[in-house]
Amino acid sequence: QARPLVDRYGRHISYLRISVTDRCDFRCVYCMAEDMTFLPKKEVLSFEEIDIISSAFVKRGVTRLRLTGGEPLVRRDIMDLVRTLGRHLGHGLDELTLTTNGSQLSKHAGFLAQAGVRRLNVSLDTLSPDRFRTITRRGRLEDVMSGIDAAQEAGLEIKINMVAMRGVNDDEIEPMMAWAHARNMGLTLIEGMPLGEVGIDRVDTYLPLRELHDRLSRRYTLEKLTKKTGGPARYVRVAETGGVLGFITPMSHNFCESCNRVRLTATGQLFLCLGQDDQVNLRDALRDGGLPALDAALDQAMLIKPKGHDFVIDRNRPEPALGRHMSVTGG
Ligand code: GTP
Ligand code: 5AD
Ligand code: SF4
Repeated sequence: QARPLVDRYGRHISYLRISVTDRCDFRCVYCMAEDMTFLPKKEVLSFEEIDIISSAFVKRGVTRLRLTGGEPLVRRDIMDLVRTLGRHLGHGLDELTLTTNGSQLSKHAGFLAQAGVRRLNVSLDTLSPDRFRTITRRGRLEDVMSGIDAAQEAGLEIKINMVAMRGVNDDEIEPMMAWAHARNMGLTLIEGMPLGEVGIDRVDTYLPLRELHDRLSRRYTLEKLTKKTGGPARYVRVAETGGVLGFITPMSHNFCESCNRVRLTATGQLFLCLGQDDQVNLRDALRDGGLPALDAALDQAMLIKPKGHDFVIDRNRPEPALGRHMSVTGG
């Protein structure tokens, strides 16, 4: 195997997140503005380019690939890419997964399972159809529900991601957990991060997950788990439901020192941190200099990966920490 990817702080990069499109059929209020300008389609990487770049990463020790977006399943012919990447499974790649909003899952679930995908993270912030419409601005809860049904029928393991927001869905934590656990799905709570101008007030809606942890621990027995998915969540098992509950706390408890990931955008920029602008242009490296230049660009990336993000949510600093939206880098 080629030289592993290790940054200046000794962190091994074993996880590549690939945003296959910045487009989405929803406009979630914490993620996007109502009116978004998307990347020009001609600048977007071809599936062949994504596969070449992914292969270079796998050769250098990346064992997990996750497709994100925007919404990965709205990219045309996305299953062709999933099948192509699936061929790396067992040849250096341990896991191929997706983070999806679920809207198109019912038509793709079976094919995903056939291509070697074993689990999915589905973003869902509420169980109320009206509230779902308000949060996503254009989604239909029933589409996501039938997507989840189809995915479970296809044998895919599902984890629900819920961005916890004060005054928006903080009254639904317990019902969401009961629902997810009863259906054999994990629930992971996420603190909202200040990325891009969106449709809600980041300060008013910010909910430190410590607060929810304490609230839940009064009603439930939360047993610490050492389970590691390679992601940033910390997990507990809820004794009463038998289900797994995760906490992703970028704002209140930074996990950057154990960061193992980098992010490829749809146009081939490699972002080295979700919360910083440091990036390397892999598309130009590949198009201009082929595989040697691509490999050199990966080395360059390891030299500039920043120590961590410096997100703040503060009334006195109302500007978002970063101008770019989550849909560019895929979370
Ligand atoms: P698992 O493999 O299931 O652990 O997935 P994951 O948590 O790595 O992936 P997922 O796409 O479900 O990520 C959930 C959310 O966690 C993302 O959308 C981000 O909001 C947040 N997140 C993931 N990775 C990072 C990271 O490196 N830094 C920060 N600040 N947040 C992250
Ligand atoms: N902060 C935290 N999570 C976010 N997501 C989208 N935007 C944000 C944000 N600003 C979540 C989505 C999805 C995942 C990919 O990222 O809900 O679960
Ligand atoms: Fe789309 Fe996901 Fe962003 Fe919602 S959070 S607008 S589903 S990319």
